[in-house]
Amino acid sequence: MSKAFYVTTPIYYVNDVPHIGHAYTTVIADFLARFHRLDGFDTYFLTGTDEHGEKIYQAAHGAGIDPQQFCDRISQRFRDAWQVLDISHDDFIRTTEERHKAVVRRILEAVHAAGDIYYDEYEGLYCVGCERFLTDKELVNGQCPDHLRAPERRREGNYFFRMEKYRDWLRGYIRDNPDFVRPTGYRNEVLALLGEPIGDLSISRPKGRVPWGIELPWDAEHVAYVWVDALINYTSALGFPDDARYRAYWPVAQHLIGKDILKPHAVFWPTVLKAAGVPLYQHLNVGGFLKGHDDEQKMSKSLGNVIDPFEMAEKYGTDAVRYYLLKDTVYGQDSSIGEQFLVERYNADLANDLGNLLSRVRALLTRHTDGVLPSPSQQEADEELIATGTALVGQVRSLVGRLRIFEALETVMQFVRQLNRYFNDEAPWKLAKDPDGRERLGTVLYNIAEGLRIVSVLLEPAMPSKARQVRTDLGLEDYTFADLEAWGQAAPGTKIPPEADILFPKSETGKPKRQTPQTPPKKEAPQVEQISIEDFSKVQLRVAEVKAAEKVEGADRLLKLTLDLGDETRTVVGGIAQWYQPEDLPGRKVILVANLKPAKLRGIVSEGMILAAEDGDGNLVLVGPDQDIATGAEVH
Ligand code: MSP
Repeated sequence: MSKAFYVTTPIYYVNDVPHIGHAYTTVIADFLARFHRLDGFDTYFLTGTDEHGEKIYQAAHGAGIDPQQFCDRISQRFRDAWQVLDISHDDFIRTTEERHKAVVRRILEAVHAAGDIYYDEYEGLYCVGCERFLTDKELVNGQCPDHLRAPERRREGNYFFRMEKYRDWLRGYIRDNPDFVRPTGYRNEVLALLGEPIGDLSISRPKGRVPWGIELPWDAEHVAYVWVDALINYTSALGFPDDARYRAYWPVAQHLIGKDILKPHAVFWPTVLKAAGVPLYQHLNVGGFLKGHDDEQKMSKSLGNVIDPFEMAEKYGTDAVRYYLLKDTVYGQDSSIGEQFLVERYNADLANDLGNLLSRVRALLTRHTDGVLPSPSQQEADEELIATGTALVGQVRSLVGRLRIFEALETVMQFVRQLNRYFNDEAPWKLAKDPDGRERLGTVLYNIAEGLRIVSVLLEPAMPSKARQVRTDLGLEDYTFADLEAWGQAAPGTKIPPEADILFPKSETGKPKRQTPQTPPKKEAPQVEQISIEDFSKVQLRVAEVKAAEKVEGADRLLKLTLDLGDETRTVVGGIAQWYQPEDLPGRKVILVANLKPAKLRGIVSEGMILAAEDGDGNLVLVGPDQDIATGAEVH
């Protein structure tokens, strides 16, 4: 194989258990690894845990256990977490492994031998959360902006790496290689950083203060600074310098990181590599933070605004969580996420657009073609679909190459929507009733199955198991991207299995069981009485927040809601139990008809009515404000 691809995640500190921030970068890395495997690249995907340093030592102490045992325990939690999220890493490195320590010693030795290390006393502001000295400029109101704590003033004897010496060289390198740090915003940030002196880097800690680390080869009284130790994992995992993996993968190394660890990766790491005489990595890909919807800060446990991806995976399925993280975030920028949005994405893209199409085409194949993929005879009306379907892999490849992942997935979903339109326009269920429509019916069903084959392969990096299920449900095998450039590779005559599970069952979400937000079928326009603005102004509509919801005993359709209007609390009974689970409503803003005469329903006095939209099939969807607005606000 000639093409190689090597992707790494940051190695995660074991002072914290896996959370959404870790999961995000790891899912992106997994997407890229799976994508490149399917695209014929010889791929290596590395993740792991960062286990040395003061922060970990303190955490182990706090837990009252031996640091190694502590690391073993938490590191295992990361492995387990990646299993839950179906992460396909090829290697999991731990910085306490001997294979890693040996390479750290070797690289430090090389920098030392080059004359780029000296001993000095240092005084500065240290943030244990970041595990580095911060400059005055990096502080916001005297605090570390990432950890919201004031750093400690420290003075100690350290070994230093002559980093400043490499500043001009690095600046030139980044200028000449526009893709080295991407997206561009972060590249500019690094160039700005390098526009001023960066100083030398303290690369050791006295063992007396931090005993938990790798001893320096030339002075056993000091251990390597945790960042220098950690960065080297990207090469130690490949068996630097002699292993075939190092030779194959290092030249194409792509690191994925969060923006908070830009400086160590974009400045410390390339200068250390240069001094040690090791070639640089190829790309540094910088991602933004995931935030809760109203939060300014990134999500993190210490900030108490976490969504738990593992809980979400249990509730909605691993593939739905993966898809959501990839499709609803813009790589490189901060993105807001929330469970409610995950559910919306799940229902719209997965359950409706993809899942329904699959079950509809399967039903028609089972009923009208004996469950066998028919042989198509294409017509002009099919050309557009075929052209889009075969061009898809090229478009997606190009977008993923530029890390525009959500756009790549959106391009695939647009094609899914095109397949749905084709299905509706060609109306195979009508063709089935027409004795002259059999051949056309076969072609239409074949084309939808073939389109779904292409879609399933392109969605596989995002949703490995559901994508395979799409194919299994159509009786198809696995394919690679090379099989997507020509239409017609799903073999006519293929038998589809008679039974299949629903791809994305809506009920699993515990959310509204509404169907596709399709336009309701047109009814005879009812005779509606016109009212004047004065009539309308008699209705007082207000924004209310649901505080609590519960089922009304003995009434399948009713929920009792407690609503907050800012200045008062109301009880309202609504006929929405078929579409909403009580536990999903608290926190939601709804519109209340506030001056409706109270009415007694099942013994409960209902003080108003909440608004919902109804489609042609009688499905209800609650109506709410488009953006967040104060509870109690008037609606005109
Ligand atoms: N151990 C170092 C990395 C060493 S790599 C040689 C480290 N570990 S970490 O566990 O604290 O964080 C790892 C990554 O998780 C960072 O890239 C950080 O940006 C990312 N995230 C943590 N919380 C995050 C969000 N809420 N959103 C997105 N990513 C964030 O730093």
